[in-house]
Amino acid sequence: MKIVIGNDHAAFEMKNTIKSYLEDKGYEVMDVGCHSENRVDYPEYAEKIGDTVASGAADLGIAICGTGVGMSIAVNKVRGVRAVCCSEPYSAKLSRMHNDANVLCFGARVIGPELAKMIVDEWLNASFLGEHHTARVEMIKAIENK
Ligand code: RB5
Repeated sequence: MKIVIGNDHAAFEMKNTIKSYLEDKGYEVMDVGCHSENRVDYPEYAEKIGDTVASGAADLGIAICGTGVGMSIAVNKVRGVRAVCCSEPYSAKLSRMHNDANVLCFGARVIGPELAKMIVDEWLNASFLGEHHTARVEMIKAIENK
């Protein structure tokens, strides 16, 4: 599975932690930056992550900023993206199972690295359940295409 990961300056260290964690588990990780703690604007990286997922160049995306909020708002503007911002594993898991979320966002200033790893694990190990959830995801797509 190919995962695109991106961050702003507030999440540079967290991005490196999660990237190494995923690579150690055998995932192919595409890092779209940023690559230092110099101040940047998170929408730029959100757009790169969203475009990479929406085009199919990656299967899933992970977007990290200070709170996860800015990244999630911005990446959800990309057609085809269903991003979730969460700080605990239950919502992360259910976002895959019920909402077919394809981008995970969280805040490096909100949670620590071990909780972040647990959230990432639950999210990646869950699968979309389909059935009646499919119609709801189609309704979301219809709003997007209005
Ligand atoms: C950067 O200071 C901060 O605003 C950003 O990382 C993020 O939290 C935005 O939502």
